[in-house]
Amino acid sequence: MTDWDVSERAWLRLEAAAKAGRDARLADLMTPARVRRLGVKAAGLWIDLSKQAFTDEGVRRGLDLVRDCDLEGRRAAMFRGEAINVTENRAVEHWRLRESDPGPEMAAERERMRLFADAVRTGAIHSADGRKFKAILHIGIGGSDLGPRLLWEALRPERGRIELRFAANVDPDAFAAAVRGLDPRRTLVIAVSKTFSTLETLANLGLARAWLSNAIGEGADRHLAAVSAEPERCARFGIAADRVFPMLDSIGGRFSVWSAVGLSCAVALGWRVFSGFLAGAHAMDRHFATTSPERNAPVLMALAQVYNRNGLGRGARAVIPYAERLRLLPSWLQQLEMESNGKRVRADGSPCPRATAPIVFGEPGTTSQHAFFQLLHQGTDVVPVDFVLAADRGPAMLANGLAQAEALMLGQADPKHPWKDFPGDRPSTTILLKAVDPKSLGALLALYEHKTFVEGVLWGLDSFDQWGVELGKTLAARLIPELEGETTGAHDASTVALIERLKR
Ligand code: F6P
Repeated sequence: MTDWDVSERAWLRLEAAAKAGRDARLADLMTPARVRRLGVKAAGLWIDLSKQAFTDEGVRRGLDLVRDCDLEGRRAAMFRGEAINVTENRAVEHWRLRESDPGPEMAAERERMRLFADAVRTGAIHSADGRKFKAILHIGIGGSDLGPRLLWEALRPERGRIELRFAANVDPDAFAAAVRGLDPRRTLVIAVSKTFSTLETLANLGLARAWLSNAIGEGADRHLAAVSAEPERCARFGIAADRVFPMLDSIGGRFSVWSAVGLSCAVALGWRVFSGFLAGAHAMDRHFATTSPERNAPVLMALAQVYNRNGLGRGARAVIPYAERLRLLPSWLQQLEMESNGKRVRADGSPCPRATAPIVFGEPGTTSQHAFFQLLHQGTDVVPVDFVLAADRGPAMLANGLAQAEALMLGQADPKHPWKDFPGDRPSTTILLKAVDPKSLGALLALYEHKTFVEGVLWGLDSFDQWGVELGKTLAARLIPELEGETTGAHDASTVALIERLKR
């Protein structure tokens, strides 16, 4: 019997358990014992999965699946540094960046980052005219943008010494908005791109250079730094070697906020904050690496996901942070989950026999309640929700988060007025943070990273490649000159007609 056969049998049993439990009402399942069994503490977070859809039998079958997919073996392989990203033959080592002793190479790079961050903050590294930098412009896209942007929005001080701005989109409006009100003579530009070949980032870097040179003239290059796995390409852009911070091949873009990709945050937030963020994630790594599956937060969250997705056919999940500072969490998660597990063949190239990553979306509470919660409560699709609550956000925020989760689960019957009837039985997970602080944020992001990894193991995917984004990039590169006036190339009839219309 192959490994796939073993896991397939476990999958069929899980799906059968979901079918058998389909009519169980969540409200009837709910007991204090269930809350104890499905509530876990991990790295200072409290994760309550008791409002999830799985029955006791479903949880048991899920844990069998975890065993039969050899999650513990895969997890150990990741933490041993094996090349578990098989399609690119790379190790997966973002977790190592959070270790207190990550090995000499990573330790040296982390120390370089710290020294650089401190030197910019004290003014030892300064502008061409000898003054302290007042702002950083971070240029990058995808994983080279979303993590740092979330980190900054979550932890930025009321009145910081250094302002941090982001330019990601290739639309020049994005660049214009990012530099609005900034003085180029006091701005440090950090270009972040693992490949240093990403169209958007290079275009924005070009705009940034012109913006700096116009104001500074000679010496503008002293306002540039880069983070990349391709230092030679940075050199070709004229970025001084001592201003280039390396990224390792084993750090995937969407897992990279812990590396030098977080440099602009380390500068703008200060090293104490950045290292607290790493420490929070490391605590979650320890939890994930050492806790048995039935008390393991990323494992249980992954089981809730596959139970909803594969057992009950639910194709979407909403993530609602009840903290304005976490408003970018859903954007970061979209890349993490949909780029990692939005795949239809397994790591060995065989077709994946069941549905994989759901559509992830979200906006902060309470504003989202006034936008799409109607569908969550009464729509024809059941959309499981992650509620992320921070205990320091005050009773109005917390009450709303708790109320929504309760309302989704319990519903409210109104047989006389069907349009006022809430069916209930809509599952959710509640994640409690003590506060939106560096440690809790680090733990939260690492929790989702490991959950995504576990799901990939259960589905048999390589969660660390992203071949699906390549085709569109190649086609766009071919289309640019055609839109600029070259003869239109071979395309389908619709695209040809659109190009011709745009050229008129
Ligand atoms: O578009 C996909 C992607 O490759 C992401 O995985 C990555 O985070 C992003 O582009 C940016 O890539 P880079 O850091 O190489 O500019």
